[in-house]
Amino acid sequence: MDVLRKTADLALDVWPGRLPPPPDELLSRAAAARGLLCLLTDTVDARLMDAAPELRVISNLAVGHDNIDVTAATERGIAVTNTPGVLTEATADFTFALLMAAARRILEGDRAVRRGEWLTWEPEFLLGHDVHGSVLGIIGMGRIGEAVARRAGGFNMRILYSDVQPNRRVQQELGAERVDLPTLLGGSDYISVHVPLTPGTRGLLGRCELRMVKAGAVLINTSRGEVVDEEALVRALGDGPLAAAGLDVFTREPLPTDHPLTRLDNVVLAPHLGSASVQARNAMARTAALNLVAVLKDQHPAHIVNPEVLDE
Ligand code: DGY
Repeated sequence: MDVLRKTADLALDVWPGRLPPPPDELLSRAAAARGLLCLLTDTVDARLMDAAPELRVISNLAVGHDNIDVTAATERGIAVTNTPGVLTEATADFTFALLMAAARRILEGDRAVRRGEWLTWEPEFLLGHDVHGSVLGIIGMGRIGEAVARRAGGFNMRILYSDVQPNRRVQQELGAERVDLPTLLGGSDYISVHVPLTPGTRGLLGRCELRMVKAGAVLINTSRGEVVDEEALVRALGDGPLAAAGLDVFTREPLPTDHPLTRLDNVVLAPHLGSASVQARNAMARTAALNLVAVLKDQHPAHIVNPEVLDE
């Protein structure tokens, strides 16, 4: 807000609600806007863009931009910006928190303590699985995947990854091996998803893929819920082969409280908190504001999803 307020000639219309604006409200309030700073909970589609003829920039307060129709924006010459980089380490920290919690059954332990189910020290009470020395499969070796891989190095994990592009740095510095998806699924004790949601990655882990997973493996998802087929996931957690999962993202957010996932003890559920550290969120907010102001001042923003609109 400081960045925006200090920008001369910028009249601000700030949505006051805790919940996202209803689509029609967003549409009517955006009608006269030259810039839109939005969240991943706002759907920004062609209809909204057509209702806002002055719109020059859509600045998303997120690295993922699957809530925005980027093709429609590009066709209309509207810049789409996002906030990569500043949330990489926070999201990698959180990925590891989920991985550790799922592997070592921390939430089940917490619930047992609170419910008075901790009766004595027992040799086989709530046994989890080792993280150190195990195999981590990373699907998507971009910025966040790589930051997760670096953490895994500290746990002496062997790293497999799959990606359309090789990442030579992680291969050379961490000894990570690029393999195809079936090899990764069959050979990893922990599988962590770090791909953006695109038409190509939607449902990437479906019924067939989840059946290829090594028995007893743990799945972590901090990317987007729709990359994993949730129905198949519930089945794989109930009947195997998955031993557990740590999930920060879901097909429908907020996750309905009666969703089958909420009935499984071997799942750690988080409400989309990957980047939710004070430092990361402040940096994201600042980046989003600076991106927006840069476009409005005819400057190149630090992060743009469709740079071709500025080259025209
Ligand atoms: C993103 O940036 O895309 C995350 O999902 C929220 O930090």
